[in-house]
Amino acid sequence: MSKHVATKRVAAPDLRARKGGEPIVCLTAYTAPMAALLDPHCDVLLVGDSVGQVVHGLPNTVGVTLDMMILHGQAVMRGAAQAMVVVDMPFGSYEGGPEIAFANAARVMKETLCQAVKVESGPAVAETIRYLVERGIPVMGHVGLRPQAVNVDGGFKAKGRTEDERARVLAEARAADEAGAFAIVVEGVAETLADEITAAIAAPTIGIGASAGCDGQILVTDDMLGLFDWTPKFVRRYGDLRRVVDEAVSAYAADVRARRFPAAAETYALGQRRQRVAGGDERG
Ligand code: KIV
Repeated sequence: MSKHVATKRVAAPDLRARKGGEPIVCLTAYTAPMAALLDPHCDVLLVGDSVGQVVHGLPNTVGVTLDMMILHGQAVMRGAAQAMVVVDMPFGSYEGGPEIAFANAARVMKETLCQAVKVESGPAVAETIRYLVERGIPVMGHVGLRPQAVNVDGGFKAKGRTEDERARVLAEARAADEAGAFAIVVEGVAETLADEITAAIAAPTIGIGASAGCDGQILVTDDMLGLFDWTPKFVRRYGDLRRVVDEAVSAYAADVRARRFPAAAETYALGQRRQRVAGGDERG
């Protein structure tokens, strides 16, 4: 039997128990090395379908496929050791009904070994959440601004401007909560509406463009690291990686053009003395 050291990962009941307690820290992740960097700091790593825009250059999340989510989910699971990994169900993979959703969500769980899936929980989705949870799939809901509804909404618009809209978003959050979602992302809503939802439901709320009163917060990692030249109002930039990359690449390009790179220490002297290279291993 092979030796296997199991690391305890954050699980759905752990998160649910955090309602009203220490805020839940979540970020998006799409690759193994970034997941490894984020893992020690985060309770949840979301393999968001924002991968479509962030990694694949798509205009929105509608074109993201189940195969893309599974591939990125597998990568993140390889990089993360303790955080809960939640994989987004992409547009078209769950809205057709509970049985279709179960088949697709089960594929995500089996092929990635993630701990949960997330669905954008519009009015028709509560029944599907219940169906999945009853069959062993933990589900995170997502209400408010639902990026997969971009074509119906005509853009990415914050919610909660009218009483009707507030009531609709609150009802969607309650429905997802009652159906058994273990946590619910609340995106792009008026701060007071986010607070009202947080007070009204048993599941912890994870805010993005919502309120500091939510039970946790999530951001798209590449936004908060400053990898894009534009970020939405609700993003705080904790880094300026765009500038770091620009400076590093410009220095590299100058060195290549001036034949300063590679230097002797960065080349192999085959057939001559073995030498140590940057990683410390002996090659040559
Ligand atoms: O896809 C995503 O990254 C998300 C978060 C913004 C919540 O759904």
